Amino acid sequence: MRPEIERAVALLRAGELVAFPTETVYGLGADAGNAAAVAKIFAAKGRPADHPLIVHLPDASHLARWAREVPPEAEQLAAAFWPGPLTLILKRQENVPDAVTGGQDTVGLRVPNHPLALELLAAYGGGVAAPSANRFGRISPTTAAHVREELGGRVPLVLDGGACPVGIESTILDLSRDTPVLLRPGAIGAADIARVLGRAPETAAPHADAPRVSGSLDAHYAPRTPLQLVSSDGLLFALRNALVAGEKVAVLAPTVQAISHDLVTWKQSPAEPAGFAHDLYASLRELDSLGCIRILVQQPPAGEAWLAVNDRLRRAAAGSGEDDET
Ligand code: TXA
Ligand code: MG
Repeated sequence: MRPEIERAVALLRAGELVAFPTETVYGLGADAGNAAAVAKIFAAKGRPADHPLIVHLPDASHLARWAREVPPEAEQLAAAFWPGPLTLILKRQENVPDAVTGGQDTVGLRVPNHPLALELLAAYGGGVAAPSANRFGRISPTTAAHVREELGGRVPLVLDGGACPVGIESTILDLSRDTPVLLRPGAIGAADIARVLGRAPETAAPHADAPRVSGSLDAHYAPRTPLQLVSSDGLLFALRNALVAGEKVAVLAPTVQAISHDLVTWKQSPAEPAGFAHDLYASLRELDSLGCIRILVQQPPAGEAWLAVNDRLRRAAAGSGEDDET
């Protein structure tokens, strides 16, 4: 076993935290069967204790250890998408600590598709509870450096697997009810799920489950600089206003340098959804560090392919500009 994996496994067994890369974002992991270890996640993140965590598994054969019912639809989706960015909400086994489920009768499970995460999980041989490795309400980390910025001395080991290929959090699908319900959009879309199940998932009514799904809180994934979503015309208008007022602004848009000025920092956003998602959090972090009055983000197109990205942008705008943890 490689020394860093050996060290990570030893820390997990000792009830300590380990941050690790997944294909979506970096996770802050602890032994999912150890309530005291899981409590350290909440302390490090500053996250309310009733928000449930996702348990990461080495492979789908572990499902029945965590879920007391594994419906055929869960097996089908696991076969189609695991390892991959899909979290399934299932009825929990009795042994799953309340600290993991937020006291609910369900548990979130996924097998992440990242070589380092899979190596860690296989070596550990059990479930690792892990939320995104950021302070509560803030931008999810997509590099090891982001994790150190967010959690610094609060986590004894950060495994470095480079930049996360997907860049936004997993799709969450609730299979604990009569019909599948999409709780959080992600890289795996409703159409992908429908293709496997032969029926389309329902979409959760906005915020029906808040705060049980903390990703469903309005203020989330947020920079400290106020973030405003604008149309392409709105962007030029807002930029002119900022320049007239002498305000320093940052812009995330698919076409850069429509206006060139000392007060304006441009960052180009990829024109297709996968690239946009891949760059999104790193770009927001970078623009957030510039000391601007405002971050202007040109709103991507509407439609299914952009759903997950637009969801994260809306929440980033809602939660931006706050200094306190919320
Ligand atoms: O891509 C991801 O899912 C990343 C990586 C690290 O795997 N994890 C992640 O975790 O985004 P977190 O805690 O930041 O978001 C997980 C979401 C939360 O909104 C949580 O409330 C929801 O999953 N969740 C977990 N268990 C649940 C349950 N039993 N019922 C409803 N929602 C649940
Ligand atoms: Mg999170």
